[in-house]
Amino acid sequence: MSRRAIAIALLCFSSLTQAESPTAKDNRNAIQVSPSERNQVLFEMRDFLHDLFNMHNALANKDMQGVATATKPMAGLLDRLPAKLRERLPEEFTQMALGMNEALKVMARDAETRGDMSLTESQMAELMTYCSGCHDTFRFEVTPARLRR
Ligand code: HEC
Repeated sequence: MSRRAIAIALLCFSSLTQAESPTAKDNRNAIQVSPSERNQVLFEMRDFLHDLFNMHNALANKDMQGVATATKPMAGLLDRLPAKLRERLPEEFTQMALGMNEALKVMARDAETRGDMSLTESQMAELMTYCSGCHDTFRFEVTPARLRR
């Protein structure tokens, strides 16, 4: 196939997938994982919700040190994942995880050193864009080892 034909085919394919309703079909990129890899990441994810609860609670109590304390354990997601999974993660997934990591570190540092609630709120909003950005793009698919890429 010529490059042009490939480009046209890709274009048709991408507009086709866009035409499908997101509620009828999951168009996100599948990352192939083992059952235990999936469990481990989802455990980390549910922990994120607990941490977000603690962050909001501390913020509502104007406890900026508490915000920093709640933020810190969220950083380092990639470091907590098994090396075998890390190697297979798509570059974009890794970049989003790294971006979120940076945002968390800045947030914890600013909460401690600047104690500006409004700044923390806006950083919290920025943080959520990493959560939804990754969820909008990727999903997990449990696949037998011989089929995993
Ligand atoms: C770099 C990618 C990435 C980032 C960043 C990310 N997640 Fe996730 N998260 C995932 C994937 C992938 C799944 C599984 C989705 C699927 O298979 O449908 C998931 C699932 C979840 C789940 C479902 C857990 C379960 O037990 O089913 C929760 C809750 C969640 N994420 C919370 C968060 C929160 C809160 C943030 C931000 C603070 C966040 N995630 C950031 C990738 C990410």
